[in-house]
Amino acid sequence: MLPLILPSSDRQSLRRTLRARRRALSVFARKKAARELAHRLAALPALKTAQHIALYWPVDGEIDTRTLLRHARMTRRKFYLPVLRKFPANTLAFARWHAGRALHPNRLGIPEPAGRVTFSARHMDVILLPLTGFDARGNRLGMGGGFYDRTLAFRKHGHAHKPVLIGVAHACQQVDRLESAVWDIPLNQVATDKHVFR
Ligand SMILES: Nc1ncnc2c1ncn2[C@@H]1O[C@H](COP(=O)(O)OP(=O)(O)O)[C@@H](O)[C@H]1O
Ligand SMILES: [Mg+2]
Repeated sequence: MLPLILPSSDRQSLRRTLRARRRALSVFARKKAARELAHRLAALPALKTAQHIALYWPVDGEIDTRTLLRHARMTRRKFYLPVLRKFPANTLAFARWHAGRALHPNRLGIPEPAGRVTFSARHMDVILLPLTGFDARGNRLGMGGGFYDRTLAFRKHGHAHKPVLIGVAHACQQVDRLESAVWDIPLNQVATDKHVFR
């Protein structure tokens, strides 16, 4: 797939284009991509040693990371899903996720674990962030809510090695170059069904 060449200032139209692209993938292509991504992720040094791993519930054609939960190399890890926080406004905390346990839709309609116990981003060893778009340098375009940027704003100051931020996407969501805003938090790595960018 050829990288898109669009004016990167036009974030909204770029989001629309890339969202349509990922939604256009067939069910078969999606399943295959999810399997291939899980293999790539499980082989990454950051995931080999991680105990606390944040995934997300895929919506809008986002690549499915849930396969990782049952991956042979990922036994005895603790998995988490993001939950919306009111304070600080529009940030994320992370709640333990056990496959098969009930989830409840949040105000955006995205399923969250039901329990009240949540952990901050700093408690995670690895956070897998859904990407709407990305470039090879680790710039991230999200869905436009800025939730991960706000949650990870502490990364702007200092050089915490934890959590390792790994953006994940279908390969067709790569663009040549994304202009990052001052509040955008850069990724440590990007993994797709086809490549890993470090
Ligand atoms: N650390 C932050 N503090 C306050 N607002 C923020 C912060 N990070 C992002 N935002 C807000 O979130 C909005 C969406 O951010 P953007 O990077 O465009 O979305 P996304 O990362 O979801 O693609 C921005 O308009 C910005 O004002
Ligand atoms: Mg952003």
